[in-house]
Amino acid sequence: MTQHFIVIGNPIAHSKSPEIHTQFAAQAGIEISYQRQYCPDDAASFTAVIEAFFQGGGVGANVTVPFKQVAYNCCVARGGLSEHAKVAGAVNTLLLNKTLLKNGASIAEAIYGDNTDGQGLVNHITSLDWPLKDARVALIGAGGAARGVILPLIEAGISDLTLANRTLSKATNLVNDLSAASETIAKQQIKTCTTDQLSGAFDIIINATSIGLSGDTLPLSDELSGHYAYDMMYGRTLPFLQHFAERGAQTSDGYGMLIGQAALSFERWTGQAIDVVKVTEILQTH
Ligand code: ATR
Repeated sequence: MTQHFIVIGNPIAHSKSPEIHTQFAAQAGIEISYQRQYCPDDAASFTAVIEAFFQGGGVGANVTVPFKQVAYNCCVARGGLSEHAKVAGAVNTLLLNKTLLKNGASIAEAIYGDNTDGQGLVNHITSLDWPLKDARVALIGAGGAARGVILPLIEAGISDLTLANRTLSKATNLVNDLSAASETIAKQQIKTCTTDQLSGAFDIIINATSIGLSGDTLPLSDELSGHYAYDMMYGRTLPFLQHFAERGAQTSDGYGMLIGQAALSFERWTGQAIDVVKVTEILQTH
């Protein structure tokens, strides 16, 4: 029987999720339909679309810009949130909470939220054979993208985390917020600084800002060095990666993170693990 999935966003025409999940399904030998779902940019419309989807027999949904926080609020009031979604303050994966359904909840009451973005990053970095255990990591950015990856990075065993941002107060507020939300994060002494003050030697430097979209470049110090540089953006020439490649670092854009987070969503929904490296190769040759 065909299992139905959607990705919901606004705009949504550019989403690569349908082709990614179609490849996963081919690999897992499962019959699926996976559609792009446009939604007007307001919480009431989002909730109506999601409820109708699950009530119509849908198995799972991905959530993208601008609805990740709306989806979080929707799940708080319904089927609950995973630890990663709680700490990220955002949801990218929706499914039904089976325990609640068994206990008599309605479908709308059982809508549950998870967030696989951060673990998708960790899994991709691991698949590149970049050492995360005991790594000294610098993370640049203090918006939603940075927020979502901090707990998974700490869980992966990094030794040291510095959070840099153009606006320092946003970085310190984020650390305070996350430390209040998670004991694991509170135990990690996260340092903060402005992006131009970020200096010293790191194992991995990660760009979680949206600067790649603007064509601007980050003001990086000559005193900053890294063995590996990762940009969570993908699909264009990224000056951040060029900067570190010219200084001998290994680099990667965020395409593998996109596939990694999708694979984890697929696994939550179907119970099937995906060979991410193989699917990435197939999709990149398309
Ligand atoms: P997202 O949810 O994608 O993380 P966001 O919440 O708008 O998006 O956060 C964007 C991040 O990129 C912020 O850390 C922002 O820095 P500020 O907090 O100082 O605004 C960073 N950013 C965006 N454009 C930038 C630029 N031109 N230079 C430096 N940092 C930039």
